[in-house]
Amino acid sequence: MTEKTPTEILEEEHRVIEKVVGAMAVIAETLDQGGHVEVDTLRDVAAFMRTYADQCHHGKEETHLFPALEQKGVPSRGCPVGALLQEHKAGRALVAAFTEAVNQFAGGDDSKRDAVISSLRGLVALYPGHIWKEDYLLFPMANKVLSRDDQTDLCERFQAVELSVGHDVHHRFEQMAERLASVLGSRS
Ligand SMILES: [Fe+2]
Ligand SMILES: [Fe+2]
Repeated sequence: MTEKTPTEILEEEHRVIEKVVGAMAVIAETLDQGGHVEVDTLRDVAAFMRTYADQCHHGKEETHLFPALEQKGVPSRGCPVGALLQEHKAGRALVAAFTEAVNQFAGGDDSKRDAVISSLRGLVALYPGHIWKEDYLLFPMANKVLSRDDQTDLCERFQAVELSVGHDVHHRFEQMAERLASVLGSRS
């Protein structure tokens, strides 16, 4: 097994995602007060949420962790896996709405400012609770039901997800999260 367990890898990614969620809260507040936020910053946030949070992180959870749990008898519907999948779906819809609003806002349509703010606030409202459920409910349970071999296998599958996204891409988004958090003085 690599040094980290699958749930440790996912928890570390949660800490990165929280940095961007903190930045999103600051951006929404700034825009709501009529302030200026660089379009490139909005586009960075959208790209991070699509690629790092959804494609890479949710990809590891949905394509590999959840099915591994189901194989151990954890129900695929209801609590907790079904509920978490619904939240991924809701997050994806909000990111799509945010991306579209950003494109229109960047094109000079200031009437889209509210749509940018509301999609950001939707994401800020969704993510902390979602991450909490995974860190404190799902992952401790996963650590109980998955054998050492299951965990080794999952780590290898996670590596494959990162390679498919691009290992450098994954790392670049982690640096971007750090930058967004420091520039915007967000909470994490
Ligand atoms: Fe998740
Ligand atoms: Fe997660």
